[in-house]
Amino acid sequence: MTDQFPQGFLWGTATAAHQVEGDNRLNDWWAWEQVPGHIRNGDRSGDANDHYRRFDADFALLEQLGQNAHRLSLEWSRIEPGPGQFSAEAIAHYRQVLASLRAHGLEPMVTLHHFTNPVWFAQQAAWESPDAPAQFARYVGRVVDELGDAARFWITINEPTVFAYQSYLKGDWPPGYRSLTAAGRVLGNLIRGHWLAFEQIKARAPHSQVGLAHHVRLFDPDRWWAPFDRLAAVVYNRLFNLGVLRALETGRLTWFQRRFISGGQGPRRSQDFLGLNYYTRDRLRFSPRNRAEFFATRVIPAGVPRSDLGWEIYPEGMYRTLRGFAEARLPIYVTENGVADADDHLRPAYLVDHLRAVRRAITEGAQVRGYFHWTCFDNFEWGEGYAAKFGLMDRDRRIRPSGRLYAEICQTGSLPASVPPPTAPPEPEPPRAPELR
Ligand code: FCB
Repeated sequence: MTDQFPQGFLWGTATAAHQVEGDNRLNDWWAWEQVPGHIRNGDRSGDANDHYRRFDADFALLEQLGQNAHRLSLEWSRIEPGPGQFSAEAIAHYRQVLASLRAHGLEPMVTLHHFTNPVWFAQQAAWESPDAPAQFARYVGRVVDELGDAARFWITINEPTVFAYQSYLKGDWPPGYRSLTAAGRVLGNLIRGHWLAFEQIKARAPHSQVGLAHHVRLFDPDRWWAPFDRLAAVVYNRLFNLGVLRALETGRLTWFQRRFISGGQGPRRSQDFLGLNYYTRDRLRFSPRNRAEFFATRVIPAGVPRSDLGWEIYPEGMYRTLRGFAEARLPIYVTENGVADADDHLRPAYLVDHLRAVRRAITEGAQVRGYFHWTCFDNFEWGEGYAAKFGLMDRDRRIRPSGRLYAEICQTGSLPASVPPPTAPPEPEPPRAPELR
């Protein structure tokens, strides 16, 4: 097996508008951040990475680091600050951003919804409302009318399951609800929003490539021999991983999704590629009293390598997921993969091990066409604020050793012969319940 990647492979990093742009006052996250207790250490996104103004210099840096693609999101609340009111200024700004990417040789991959909602939309029950999919599609239609010629790759929605879970079931993100019914309704409406957006984009830009960034988490039984642990893993896999993919494949909501919203069919095969966000896996232990979490508890055994956020580091999961995806016979882009690692002692090995898993899946037939590392520089990590550091660079764009290593990989299109070992052993940490993301 060679560690050379195919010709034309896209090498890049991924960001989301609210996490990097700064001063995003018109969305629901800005308001949420002002309330003490919502964000770790009381952090607020504030001016984030000031990327709204510094984008051109930032893209020049990514070009220098050998990248040839970049995933970013457009901030809906800037483009449509009031219902049906579109901002010519914001649209002109994003036109410049996309032109700058091209000028720096970076193929844009544009996400239309990455967790944040305009305040006006949030005030109208956001994704719980039956009107939400059509309102989202109106925004998407306008964006593609204005910018459809400036990008070929479009991602409708980032991680519908994570969004529904964090915002409506776990209650850690705005609007902070804890309701299975609300989460189910939101998930159904996000899928309908994707269907409508897919049709809007295809009608206006038929040659575009449209997909959705799906967060796949591996669920394994904690005890291989325990039938109920195994059952829990099957149920979680269906609910969290397979449900969305099925709905996109068949154009119909699954039985579980139909319990929460009525009606609604979409086009069959409503994606041109599969977008995969892969970070970690969970081991599940059956716990009959944990009704709120579908009768299972997520555990990480002591001694398992993990990130600063306690997520297990499990590169084999990348391979297993891609191998499963290969059956869909669609091109695949790894739209996110990365690790919270403040001192960069884990990231070099994480990077190489996960890319090796990608390479192995390609050898076995998975059509992986690109990899976007999360993320280029430390940024506002939602509920974790600035404490979780996922960057190949720090917030001031100082390049970490892993950033240099990634540059070498992008420039040569191949992996180094040996995996850099972790530079310092991780401090032993008490096991902590992992988050579902
Ligand atoms: C993903 C999100 C992304 C970032 C990474 C760490 O679930 O899409 O915005 O928070 O996790």
